[in-house]
Amino acid sequence: MEAVRRTLIAGNWKMNLLREEAYVLIGGILQESAPYTGVDTLICPPFLYLEIAVQITKNAPLFVGAQNLFYEESGPFTGEISAAMLREVGCSHVIIGHSERRAYFRESNRELNRKISACLACGMTPILCIGETLEQRTTGATFETLNEQLTYGLQGIDGASVCTMVIAYEPVWAIGTGVSAESSQAEEVHRFIRDVIAKFTDEESAQALRIIYGGSVNSANAGELLSCDNVDGALVGGASLSLDSFCGIVRTADSLKKQSAAMS
Ligand code: PGA
Repeated sequence: MEAVRRTLIAGNWKMNLLREEAYVLIGGILQESAPYTGVDTLICPPFLYLEIAVQITKNAPLFVGAQNLFYEESGPFTGEISAAMLREVGCSHVIIGHSERRAYFRESNRELNRKISACLACGMTPILCIGETLEQRTTGATFETLNEQLTYGLQGIDGASVCTMVIAYEPVWAIGTGVSAESSQAEEVHRFIRDVIAKFTDEESAQALRIIYGGSVNSANAGELLSCDNVDGALVGGASLSLDSFCGIVRTADSLKKQSAAMS
């Protein structure tokens, strides 16, 4: 039997928007996305806006998540934010291992593994980002790279917890470039990821895992990407900063979900 996975559309705002702009965008998303109940919608604003975002979205079907955390519980870690702090303000998800963090902040798979454990221990959902660079793709190292990121990133985490996580496949060459992966490329990789995860658990449990795609998703290409069997949502960067684009993606995802429900 095919697992029913709820589509997740997540907006990764990165280091963008000043406070007033953030309020306006959150208010707009709340209003515009309200009818699209067939999908989970998540926004990940900068740390400073998380608390207010949670307050504004209270009782609304809009999740609020963080873009990073630090794995220690507390202590002398100047500038860092713990999982418990994020949980306390009401975050439900945390993006972990985004390629920008891997590249600019030298985050290793080992460190990300600790971040995932800390996130799970506080009852939030980690969104683990993995993806190959252009060089890795052109030299045929895509699957080896992804396998390594998954294997070390998820080391020691029990299979049942892994299946409650979200994995985001984000080819580095597609992030912020305007060139998204072809839907066939995304589907091939997502299937591969599900097979790797099945080794941590079993086939049936791996069917429950949500694997979302990120990298130049917009309202024009979302339909094709989200139609793939193993693409369970999108992690949206640039297009999540525009109300029309982000809600266009949410609307597309919702109507695909409703169409497939009507057909089954
Ligand atoms: P993009 O970013 O949609 O701007 O390509 C995606 C991401 O970095 O998560």
